[in-house]
Amino acid sequence: MAEINWDTLGFDAYRTRTVVKSHFKDGKWSPAEATEEFSFTYDPFAQVFHYAISCFEGMKAFTQKDGTVVIFRPEQNAARMKRTADYLGIPAPDEDMFISMCEECIRGNLEFLPPYGHKASLYLRPLLVGMHPQMQLTPYPEAVFAVMCAPAGAYYGDHLRSFAAVIPGDFDRAAPKGSGSYKIGANYASTFRPYKYAHDAGYAELLYLDSATRSTIDEFGSSNFFGIKGNTYVTPLSDSVLPSITNLSLRQVAEDLGMKVERRPVPLEELGEFDEVAACGTAVVITPISHIDIKPQLAGSEVSRSWRFSPDGKVGPVCTKLYERITGIQFGELEDTHNWCHKVSL
Ligand code: PLP
Ligand code: COI
Repeated sequence: MAEINWDTLGFDAYRTRTVVKSHFKDGKWSPAEATEEFSFTYDPFAQVFHYAISCFEGMKAFTQKDGTVVIFRPEQNAARMKRTADYLGIPAPDEDMFISMCEECIRGNLEFLPPYGHKASLYLRPLLVGMHPQMQLTPYPEAVFAVMCAPAGAYYGDHLRSFAAVIPGDFDRAAPKGSGSYKIGANYASTFRPYKYAHDAGYAELLYLDSATRSTIDEFGSSNFFGIKGNTYVTPLSDSVLPSITNLSLRQVAEDLGMKVERRPVPLEELGEFDEVAACGTAVVITPISHIDIKPQLAGSEVSRSWRFSPDGKVGPVCTKLYERITGIQFGELEDTHNWCHKVSL
């Protein structure tokens, strides 16, 4: 195996050694199998291909300062996957099965688990897909649950540096009362084309507005939105955004730091009042946003409005403090007062 440079890792589908799989059929899950065989066998009529019956989770395992290996809040991901699976009408693993297969995946890929001291982690990607071959649009209790992983560093190529975002005037992420709050693969499918246009124009992120009125902020394509106004942490309350576990944790961290937390609809016009703005999520951790532009037509128009926060890659003091606190807990440098780190036996 090639030596891994833990300091330059990005966020890629790195081919590791072991994937852990189980199949729900005839009313029960098969025993979890840890295998080096990375391919799946599917019937071409399987729900996943035709009707996008597919969802996933994302979480990270960390090697802490004292050598302990932990997963950050996996019970939250287990609960969120169950909620998404109910939406798709497929069976979900219970919390014990979910966590024990994640642990098995870590144990089967120890050579890819970054050691302490490199800001890197092992990203766990649990995947749940509908396997039943069918034409009818009806749920069917058959699914494959698989956990794979990849060593991960900075999502945008650099830790704690600010990046630009664009609001696409001609693309929405999720319909009102639609699937926006579920972690289904289809929510991401609709971001690929706008991401291409955004990246071509030099933006790292897409910021989506609510699709009904286009007057409040929903979230980024990859992550939740938060803004800092004085001593207040503000984040959108919306039925169309993914309930982020990082955001949930940051709201607690902000309170622990003596900040006020507001979770409520955030009007677009309020962008001009924030001292700092950031994306937050498992993959992006906290990524400050340098500026946000609106392009009425993402691929073909000039910027119509712009807000600036932390230009030239700079990072504001509150984002820095929140980042240090949450990563300090994850890497075991600060006390885990809320019991968020789930210890893994190796
Ligand atoms: N929003 C979207 C669209 C995401 O894909 C993610 C990533 O999982 C998040 C928000 C952040 O959620 P979490 O903090 O649970 O990773
Ligand atoms: C995560 O942060 O775990 C994600 O799933 C984000 C990914 C879609 C870019």
